[in-house]
Amino acid sequence: MTLFDDSFTERPRRELAPGAVHVPGFLNLEQQAWIADRFRQWAAGPVPPHAPTVRGHEMSVRTVCLGWHWRPYAYSREAIDVNGNRVLDFPDWMVRLGRRALVEAGWPDASDSDESAEEYSPDTALVNYYDETAKMGMHQDKDERTLEPVVSLSIGDSCVFRFGNPFTRTKPYEDVTLASGDLFVFGGPSRLAFHGVQKILPGTAPTGCGLDRGRINITMRDTGLTD
Ligand code: SIN
Ligand code: MN
Repeated sequence: MTLFDDSFTERPRRELAPGAVHVPGFLNLEQQAWIADRFRQWAAGPVPPHAPTVRGHEMSVRTVCLGWHWRPYAYSREAIDVNGNRVLDFPDWMVRLGRRALVEAGWPDASDSDESAEEYSPDTALVNYYDETAKMGMHQDKDERTLEPVVSLSIGDSCVFRFGNPFTRTKPYEDVTLASGDLFVFGGPSRLAFHGVQKILPGTAPTGCGLDRGRINITMRDTGLTD
């Protein structure tokens, strides 16, 4: 059955641009469901998921942060635009997961970086919940003081993720479907590329991923900040 072996349905790992790598199926269903449970714990924690306001407009995602709280366009330990509480600590397991993600993505070969994955020390995670109508406009992740890679994990409904270039929010860009369990890493020459979420594909969350509807996305980053 070589014609119809696993590689027949597998979506291959792909480097979209130097330093930007999509790894489909990085997390198995059990890992996805475990993280979805953690998300529910974080959401019930000191700072509830909140829609950040960007230039007077509420974003359509709800965000809960770990380690450092992000608000447009700064990080702080306390969620001063929500309820003033300090956010939960960045968990050790997520540092390990981030390092593993870089290895899976082929880091550092995928970029000009000469650092090893074991030195990757993310200290913040922005955890976004997208309902079926939520989107995210094209933007750069540029509020961090380091250019360490961003590690992105997705759980639940698939989305159409638009990944562009560091120079303009318009073309050239590429649309890629990020499904439950997928990893996307962007660093090196792609670290400041514009990107966004065009749409959620309702009803595509796989049974057993821990989320019936909507999408969770986690982006880990290294802020470079110290207290
Ligand atoms: C983000 O750009 O911060 C989130 C991207 C995503 O939801 O895939
Ligand atoms: Mn982003």
